[in-house]
Amino acid sequence: MNRRYRKPMIAGNWKMNLTPSETRSFAEAFKPLLSKPRLCEVALCVPFIDIPAALKACKGGRIAIGAQNMHELSSGAYTGEVSAQMLRDLGVKYVIIGHSERRQYYNETDATVNKKVLAALEAGLRPIVCVGESLEQRQFGVTLEWITCQVKAALYGVPQDKLRRVVIAYEPLWAIGTGQTATAEQAGQVCNAIRTLIRRLYDAKTARSATILYGGSMNEKNAAELLAQPDIDGGLIGGASLKPEALSKIVQAANQE
Ligand code: PGA
Repeated sequence: MNRRYRKPMIAGNWKMNLTPSETRSFAEAFKPLLSKPRLCEVALCVPFIDIPAALKACKGGRIAIGAQNMHELSSGAYTGEVSAQMLRDLGVKYVIIGHSERRQYYNETDATVNKKVLAALEAGLRPIVCVGESLEQRQFGVTLEWITCQVKAALYGVPQDKLRRVVIAYEPLWAIGTGQTATAEQAGQVCNAIRTLIRRLYDAKTARSATILYGGSMNEKNAAELLAQPDIDGGLIGGASLKPEALSKIVQAANQE
């Protein structure tokens, strides 16, 4: 992580875990574990139903709340969906877009991801855009080409002044929930390639200030090593974000790095 230009960020992705009452207990346990003063941005991306409880319980704790998905339109006849405006109105700051589980189980394509990124920015949310290659793609040696395609498609039409608000999370599919973390070198190499691409698409200043996270079996044991890579600015944490102690240790590692 390069602290001269960027602030570290640790975001939890709870996926479909924890009820509203469990959210309150989590926040009660988590808040006192965070050191003050703290440089690191901390966000919890929780299920929609937990958002009000999370906002209330995390108030005053400098913990931002995020959602894990949204619809690309602002309103309309889309039963079961939630718009960016609705999330913003509640006080949500971040939204995960294009997580590999959404791409895999809910047929989200690069085109939908791009629409959602633009809609999130329009509504004043900060998108955390997920990209990542499969094991086969890594074995075929096409990782960087694949990630380039995903990032380019996600950012299509995003103006330079809005790019500051976009967070990119590199999450290799084979590392998510498997306990098999990418090595610091593998993760660092892809995050560096993403920054180089942003430099090409925008400019050097924009690339220097872009926040790029790593995600995939990141935990309190391997966080420091991953975060020591110059182009990894933080983490998107799944399993380990459900445990207040583990998550606070990862935040600590990001603070120190
Ligand atoms: P994991 O999940 O940390 O449990 O691997 C990361 C993610 O899916 O965002």
